Amino acid sequence: MNDLTEKEKIDRRRFLKELGAAGATGLLLASPWLSVFARAGETHRERCRIGVIGTGSRGCFLMGFMARNPKVELAAICDIYQPSIDAALGIAPKARVYKDYRQLLDDRTIDAVVIATPLDRHHRMAVDAFDAGKDVYCEKTLGYTIEECYDIYWHYRNSGRIFFSGQQRLFDPRYIKVMEMIHSGMFGEINAVRTFWYRNNDWRRKVEDPKLERHINWRLYREYSKGLMTELACHQLQVGSWALQEIPDRVMGHGAITHWKDGREVYDNVHCMYVFGNGVKMTFDSVISNKFYGLEEQILGTLGTVEPEKGKYYFEEIPPAPAFLQLVNKWENRLFDAIPFAGTSWAPETANENTGEFILGERPKTDGTSLALEAFAEAVITRRQPERIAEEGYYASALCLLGDQALQEERTVYFPDEFKLDYLNHKSPKQ
Ligand SMILES: NC(=O)c1ccc[n+]([C@@H]2O[C@H](COP(=O)([O-])OP(=O)(O)OC[C@H]3O[C@@H](n4cnc5c(N)ncnc54)[C@H](O)[C@@H]3O)[C@@H](O)[C@H]2O)c1
Repeated sequence: MNDLTEKEKIDRRRFLKELGAAGATGLLLASPWLSVFARAGETHRERCRIGVIGTGSRGCFLMGFMARNPKVELAAICDIYQPSIDAALGIAPKARVYKDYRQLLDDRTIDAVVIATPLDRHHRMAVDAFDAGKDVYCEKTLGYTIEECYDIYWHYRNSGRIFFSGQQRLFDPRYIKVMEMIHSGMFGEINAVRTFWYRNNDWRRKVEDPKLERHINWRLYREYSKGLMTELACHQLQVGSWALQEIPDRVMGHGAITHWKDGREVYDNVHCMYVFGNGVKMTFDSVISNKFYGLEEQILGTLGTVEPEKGKYYFEEIPPAPAFLQLVNKWENRLFDAIPFAGTSWAPETANENTGEFILGERPKTDGTSLALEAFAEAVITRRQPERIAEEGYYASALCLLGDQALQEERTVYFPDEFKLDYLNHKSPKQ
C-alpha cells in the first residue's frame, strides 16, 4: 500500500508531460507553484515525516493519498474523537497517536503537519506549528477571521517554513491548463466571472448521540464555521482571482436561511457580488435546496467562455444558429411586435448552443488534491517554498471571509488596505 502503482506513476508522468507540452513558460507564468516538481531529486533526502491533526472525513481522505506516496511517512496523528483516530489508524497503523496537538508539535521527529480540524481551530494550530518549526499544510479556509488569516500568513513568512493551504484546484490539470489559455489571451478580455455551487440536501451528518451534535455538525454553527462562504466559496473565489490575476476591492450581497430551518445558524441561501477596481464583477451564489445547475465557475471573455468544472470552453464566434433557432427568434420578435408597449427595437438573445471543446483530451481522475499533497512533500524535502502558493491561499480565505462580513452586516465591505499583501516586499509589518 506504500508505493504508487505502475499505472499511477504513468498517469502522473503523462499529466506532467501533457502540461509541459503546452510550453513550460506559459504554464509557469499562470501556475508558478508547479516549479516545485522541477526540483525533485535536488536533495539526497528521500522522505518527509508528516503528522496529521484532525483525522475526520477530510483528514482521512488526505491520508489516503499520502499513504501511497513513497516520499511520505505518516508518522503521527492527532484527534480528540476516538472514531476518527480508529479510522486514521486503518490507513496508517504505525502512526503515533496524540490527543493533544501540542504534544504532536513537540515531537522533534515530525517535519510537517497537515491541519484538517474545524475552521475555528486552524489559526491556533497553524501558528503554534510554525512556532514549533514545522511546515504546514492547512485546510481551507485558513482562519475564522481575516485577522487570523493574516497572522497565520506572517507567522509563515517570519518562520521561513513551507506553507500550503487546501486549495486543490491550483493543482487540478483542467484549471492549470485553462488558466494558461486565459492568460495567453485566447478568450479575450475577461469582464465577468460567475461562480455557483448548488446542492439539494440538508448538509447534516448523522449524529448517534445528541451531545455530539456540535462536534459532528460544526459546519452548521457560527461558533465554528461561516457555512457556505468558508466551506464552498473559498474554492471558487480563488479560481476567479486566479483567472483575473487580480483581487476584487469590494463585496456586497445577501444571505438567509430560506429552507433548512432546523436550528442551524449558517445561511442556506447566499448571493455575493465582488467588484474589481475596473468594474469587472465576480459573483458567488449557493443554495442547498436545488441541485439542478450543480457547481461551476463560468469565466466570460470577449472571445469565449470557460467552464473548468465541466472541463470545456466555448468560442463566441460559431457557425450560424440552426434554422430552428432562427425561426424561434423571428417568431418571438413577431409575438412581441404585437404588444404596443414592448417596442420593436430589440431582438431576444438566444443562449449559445455551441457545445464547446474539451480543455483536456481525457477527464482527469484527480481534482488536484493528490498532486497538491505530492507538491507539499516535495517542498518539505527540497526546502523550497513554491512561488505564490501561500498568497493564493491567503487571498482565497480573505475573500470568502469579507463576503461573509458583507452578508452579516448587509453592506458593501471594502478590502482593507492593511490586509493586502505586498508579498514582493520581503518585510513583515511586524519587523
Ligand atoms: N479542500 C477541500 O476540498 C475540503 C473538503 C472538505 C473539508 N475541508 C476542510 O477540512 C477541515 C475538516 O473538515 P472535515 O469535513 O474533515 O470535518 P470533520 O468534522 O469530519 O473532521 C474534523 C476532525 O477534527 C477533529 N478535531 C476537532 N477538534 C480537534 C482538536 N482540538 N484536536 C485534534 N482534532 C480535533 C474532530 O474530532 C474530527 O475528527 C475543514 O477545515 C474543512 O473546511 C476541505
